[in-house]
Amino acid sequence: MGQITELTQVVPADPGKPVRPEAASSQRTSRELAEHPDTWSHEQADEVVRRYTELAPVWDGDRGGYRSVPLADALQRGGPWPDGLCLEVGCGTGLLSALIQDVWPKVISLDLTWAMLSRSPAAWRVLGDASQLPAGDASAQAVVLADVPLFADEVVRTLTPDGVVVWSNALGEDAPHHVPIETVLGALEKASREDWSAVMSHAGWGLWAVLRRGEAA
Ligand SMILES: C[S@@+](CC[C@H](N)C(=O)[O-])C[C@H]1O[C@@H](n2cnc3c(N)ncnc32)[C@H](O)[C@@H]1O
Repeated sequence: MGQITELTQVVPADPGKPVRPEAASSQRTSRELAEHPDTWSHEQADEVVRRYTELAPVWDGDRGGYRSVPLADALQRGGPWPDGLCLEVGCGTGLLSALIQDVWPKVISLDLTWAMLSRSPAAWRVLGDASQLPAGDASAQAVVLADVPLFADEVVRTLTPDGVVVWSNALGEDAPHHVPIETVLGALEKASREDWSAVMSHAGWGLWAVLRRGEAA
């Protein structure tokens, strides 16, 4: 397993972190998908769309205040960043798209749920499934995964050899889509049959990791 380097937390966590009652069962599913992506089914996709169609009207109002904190810290401290195309997978309502675009001016923002995606102001929006990314082999220099399922084969297929994966969980280890960084790293290594390394940190209520092929610099 490649090296994981943890940087000191610089953005403190305020009191009042929300609790998501569904987190434990959702984390089991997220971990199962990261380790066994072939278990993804039409029924699961339908359930995602049903759930996020319900949440879409209140997403920004209820959750917009804290979601960008770990990603902003990752983009500030996790570089250097390769130039080129970025795939924002599971972009939701686009809360994070402007931050990403500050680093990668060309961003394709993809989501499975039209009710979420249709609210996004992103320039290039695609309705699609992360298990089949609509991008060519080695076409992206970055893949951003902020609280979405990991389909490592697709991430590895679409990334250039020097590309980066940016992972974040806005509620850290308590986020419904949280998967331990060791598991994310292991899934990327298994999919690529190469060594990867990661830099990670906590920020606010969340955590982030930046993963690259090769050993830590
Ligand atoms: C927790 S929300 C995160 C949204 C956004 N990244 C944010 O941080 O505000 C998860 C999003 O991922 C999308 N999603 C879940 N599974 C997906 C899949 N297989 N392919 C594409 N999008 C997916 C959902 O529709 C939802 O919009």
